[in-house]
Amino acid sequence: MLKNFWYAVEFADRVTRRPGRVVCLGQEFVLYRTASGAPVCLSNLCVHRGAALSMGTVSGDVIACPYHGWQYDPQGACVNIPANGPGRTIPRKARVDSYPTIERYGLVWAFLGDLPEDERPPIPVIPEFDDPTFRHVRYEMEIDANYERAFENVVDAAHTPFVHGTAFGNPDKPEIPDFRIRQTDWSAEADFELSTPPPKGTWGLLWKRRPTPEYLSVTNAWYLPNIVKLHVRLPIGDLLLYDFNIPLSEDRTLIKILGFRNFFTGAWADGNTRKRIEKILLQDRPVVESQRPELLPYDLSEELHVRSDGLQVAYRRRRLELVKRGWWVGGDDIITGETPRRSATIIASPARRENPELAGAWVHKARTGGTAQ
Ligand code: FES
Ligand SMILES: [Fe+2]
Repeated sequence: MLKNFWYAVEFADRVTRRPGRVVCLGQEFVLYRTASGAPVCLSNLCVHRGAALSMGTVSGDVIACPYHGWQYDPQGACVNIPANGPGRTIPRKARVDSYPTIERYGLVWAFLGDLPEDERPPIPVIPEFDDPTFRHVRYEMEIDANYERAFENVVDAAHTPFVHGTAFGNPDKPEIPDFRIRQTDWSAEADFELSTPPPKGTWGLLWKRRPTPEYLSVTNAWYLPNIVKLHVRLPIGDLLLYDFNIPLSEDRTLIKILGFRNFFTGAWADGNTRKRIEKILLQDRPVVESQRPELLPYDLSEELHVRSDGLQVAYRRRRLELVKRGWWVGGDDIITGETPRRSATIIASPARRENPELAGAWVHKARTGGTAQ
């Protein structure tokens, strides 16, 4: 799992004045809004006795721990220890990590890492969100699989006729013509011409009235750390799915999806769109959950790649570079697993780097980064 990225951690309308717990990278966070509506993301572990701040209460801009009422401000500094009488100072170590947030595309994003602002990788651009010709629905599902297995599945064009039948591929013509990958430091995309499946269902009825093209043009893309796009150009219009594969732990993933369409843009078709998204996920789920090893190998030679796997290979290569840069978290860094632990480690927030004078002021240790073995 990669730190030092912006992660879409929750739908924005679920982040309210009531604190909420979210999990990402095997770590727990609390989300709430200040009095002026700004989203706040703090480590969920109170440094006093580790109670979940998400069970506490927000007043003004501060959140109070449910156990002994310590209050933390949006920067994570403890500003009140009720059991301390007047005149007692608050220890410098009474602070939790606070992560930068941005609200965009109807999601709250948290920067889970310690890079300074100008070094942070970008949030991908989702042009359809602000395009009035598109309507979108959202969807979510948890699966028992590693997020990178789910991520690779979406950019893998070759599986579609096998796993999804005729939904957007043609089992009689499973060949993937050669494609060119357009890659940046943080993304890669490719266009595929998939043989058109026979038209079916409500959408198929409309489709039948138009000349059926021989090929459907599909664009698959990935954006680091965990977002994948599937853009299908149907004869009736464009359907785009942006999947946010949120790593709850190394082997459990929360998939949040924004699904855009520029046809049937009335609210009446939302349910149908959601059902189609669910159907696709339910087809992928058992296969992705069956993959072994559960975790994506670091070494490219541990699985066999063919030409049609180009986007996944590009991802694995790029990810290995970032692992070597120390951006990987996994193994001992996970605190949400089944195994009880005696210590907690935290994703370092920017304050740890920005304020060297706070260097000794952190109770929970930050991991310095994993290694690729
Ligand atoms: S555990 Fe949070 S105040 Fe004691
Ligand atoms: Fe799939």
